[in-house]
Amino acid sequence: MRSRIIGTGRGIPPHKLTNADLEKMVDTSDAWIVERTGIKERRVLDKSLATSDLATEAGLAACRNAGVDPATVDCIVLATVTPDVPFPATAVYVQKKLGAKAGGAAFDISAACAGFIYGLAIADGFIARGQFQRILVIGVEILSRIVDWKDRNTCVLFGDGAGAVLLAPEKDETRGILSTHIYSDGTYADLLNIPVGGTRAPISAEAIEARQHLVKMNGREVYKHAVRNMAAASKAALEANGVSPDQVAWVIAHQANIRIIEGVSERVGIPLDRFYLNIEKYGNTSSASVPIALDEAVENGKIKAGDLLVFSALGGGFAWGSALIRW
Ligand code: ACO
Repeated sequence: MRSRIIGTGRGIPPHKLTNADLEKMVDTSDAWIVERTGIKERRVLDKSLATSDLATEAGLAACRNAGVDPATVDCIVLATVTPDVPFPATAVYVQKKLGAKAGGAAFDISAACAGFIYGLAIADGFIARGQFQRILVIGVEILSRIVDWKDRNTCVLFGDGAGAVLLAPEKDETRGILSTHIYSDGTYADLLNIPVGGTRAPISAEAIEARQHLVKMNGREVYKHAVRNMAAASKAALEANGVSPDQVAWVIAHQANIRIIEGVSERVGIPLDRFYLNIEKYGNTSSASVPIALDEAVENGKIKAGDLLVFSALGGGFAWGSALIRW
């Protein structure tokens, strides 16, 4: 049985942090940020709220748009690197807040910016086996709580947000998720990480003083791998289905950096005007970026029934992947 996305939703915090605001916080400029990344502003979640609050907002919107009662959601797969608490899973808080089926399944996965694609792959497998009937796949990040607001190399890039899709079985074999492709390579694990706070290096006063509990990144290396691997994963999705680049209506790529997306466009041979772009408004929202962009594209009427879509993302791990969808 194929799975199909029957509803999409997003949760976007109202508070905007502009490049002009950042100019007052670190030694940077609007011109530098726009030229190197394409980002003009990003959103920051109010301190009184947590990851599960924003995820629930996105999940409820996806259910509403699908015309599905949240009480019938029997599985929640939630991708995040910024959970409410180390455990239990943020997904169980969402299950409760949403009023999803008690005794269904709800769990988190960790694949950084590729988390939503990983979640889609897992959920697609559950539907193929007939294990669940209504699965919410949520990508959600409150990156404002883990970025180093004193480090101009990273703090200008990230933002908060949540995106969700509701998956259901689809009898029409020509529609829905046609294939998913996920990859990782731990050789590069230390190029984008938070060095302390786990079992290898538990949190300590010294670590906090050295700001080791916050995001560290080798931007140059991440950039190279993102272009190469997102392009390769997108091509793998096309090849697996015998689809040529000109048949693709929209690419919903991870919104990390406009130059990364331009590089992927060139390598895959799909013009940039067929990539949905919203990076200037939200920055890099990690696992939330693909489902947020998808929800906006659906809402704006850009995606039509029968359209072929490519999803693609890369993030810490490195973990990356793609999916081909017939809408
Ligand atoms: N404002 C002003 N100057 C800055 C800033 C800033 N915010 N950040 C860095 N610079 C400076 C650097 O210090 C450096 O100065 P120097 O030459 O005096 O040393 C100069 O700008 C150039 O720095 P580079 O790192 O060479 O700049 P680059 O063109 O590589 O752009 C960037 C940096 C934007 C981080 C780029 O490498 C990139 O986008 N990498 C991908 C990172 C990414 O998207 N990560 C997100 C997580 S993973 C993912 O989602 C794919």
